[in-house]
Amino acid sequence: MNVQTSDVNRFLSTSKCLYIGGDWVPAASGKTFDTLDPGKGTRLASVAAGDGSDVDRAVQAARRSFRESGWATMPANDRAVYLHRLADLIDKNASVLSDLESLDVGKPRSQASSFDIPHSAKTFRYYADLSVTARRRDPIPVAGLEARSVRLPHGVCGFIFPWNFPFLLLGWGVAPALAAGNTIVVKPAEDTPLSALYFAELAEEAGIPPGVVNIVTGFGETAGASLASHPLIQCMSFTGSPEIGRRVAESCGRNLVPTKLELGGKGAAILFEDVSVESAADALVGAVTLNAGQVCCTATRWLVHESIAARFIEHAASQMEGMKIGYGGDTRTQIGPVVSDKQRKRVLGYVTKGVAEGAKVYQPGGVAQVSEYSEGFYVKPALLGGSPDNVCAREEVFGPVAYVMTFKSEAEAVDLTNRSHYGLANSVWSQDLDRANRVAEQLVAGNSWINAHNVFAHGVPYGGCNLSGCGGGVLGPDTLEDYYRKQSVVRPL
Ligand code: NAI
Ligand code: MG
Repeated sequence: MNVQTSDVNRFLSTSKCLYIGGDWVPAASGKTFDTLDPGKGTRLASVAAGDGSDVDRAVQAARRSFRESGWATMPANDRAVYLHRLADLIDKNASVLSDLESLDVGKPRSQASSFDIPHSAKTFRYYADLSVTARRRDPIPVAGLEARSVRLPHGVCGFIFPWNFPFLLLGWGVAPALAAGNTIVVKPAEDTPLSALYFAELAEEAGIPPGVVNIVTGFGETAGASLASHPLIQCMSFTGSPEIGRRVAESCGRNLVPTKLELGGKGAAILFEDVSVESAADALVGAVTLNAGQVCCTATRWLVHESIAARFIEHAASQMEGMKIGYGGDTRTQIGPVVSDKQRKRVLGYVTKGVAEGAKVYQPGGVAQVSEYSEGFYVKPALLGGSPDNVCAREEVFGPVAYVMTFKSEAEAVDLTNRSHYGLANSVWSQDLDRANRVAEQLVAGNSWINAHNVFAHGVPYGGCNLSGCGGGVLGPDTLEDYYRKQSVVRPL
């Protein structure tokens, strides 16, 4: 057994506790739940099921730490040292984190190790560096007054995360909040709590003061709802489904707490007649099968110019057919399982409903059998098409399911794209960059990509509008601003 495997085993072998005020503690109720390996359908670890009283303990600890630990008041460059140390520890332990993420989510390990984990580490470095140069005090030139605006951390920030990119989204979410001097309480998804707990171990090792980082594992209706409605939370961030996002926003609205919502999507890819059909099809098949299709910003509506539709569909369907579905730890795997049996039922249910509503079937999808792993939650990719009114053209499936529609004119493509109530990310594919840019700006969403889909870079804001969320995105410099409250200090002269 090598060092890394033994570290993963060590981590999994103990019952996982909550991390509150720098201590590892069981839930007050003593309750636990199991997190599964979706590739095998078996238990990975037993985890504390926190509820309202644990959330309260965590929020109180975070509040105490905000007031007393010095985290909120230390110079930004001192905090940045801790966050760089944390990023270094993430890199140093990237192999263990990649294993845990692959085991808990089911995703191919290579994806976790090449993207999820290093991108998360970079996010801590990006916001640490940005916070050092952020303007904390700005003089305001007004006659008769000595005035300035000051940026200060809010206090305790709450985070509720989903299961598709647990460690990546944790980094995207908490890095700016910590860099600005806030303290945090995190509720990871019940399907994938492990990497957040490992993160807490690293935060401790980095020397971050007790109570700055708190992790309460547990279920949405108990731990999640208690966190969203806790009166001492000063700023709330939620990533997940629009249904729950609405509930979180309602609770925060009652408490008048600013809320950042990163919700789902139903992204379109518009393919004009001048694209290289095969390479565009390859890229989109790659996008819709990434993370077994459990990606909020991916392209699930493929709008193809009618003159190239037949060739495109044939190539995309055969690419899908050839993809290797398998266990996340198998290096040949291109599509791992979906996260849970519940999610598999949801995906299969959508395909059945779409077909019943008259969708054309180019790849039927369905349950995938992976030998040796008969209890895993595997699904085959599906390619449907036809009317834009079909349920699979309108609702978020969150699985490897694409829906093809054809268009004749640029205006029709824009209109079809903007029919969606979601507004997260779309892409335009054409060699005519004037046209691509013109169309990109007409699409109502947080992100328009050109000749690519799923592009994430530190410094470029990523977020949604309409059903995809509000309150600002992540990854851009503005996100750091979201984690400061602004105050004016004024003295009449
Ligand atoms: P969800 O929205 O229920 O879960 C996300 C997080 O919210 C989890 O941590 C969960 O524990 C928490 N939560 C659940 N109920 C809550 C409540 N009442 N108060 C506060 N927190 C609560 O997502 P779910 O059910 O796991 O997936 C359903 C669908 O949502 C997916 O099929 C997909 O369409 C969408 N989704 C979108 C995501 C995205 O990245 N935008 C991520 C996950 C799911
Ligand atoms: Mg799991």
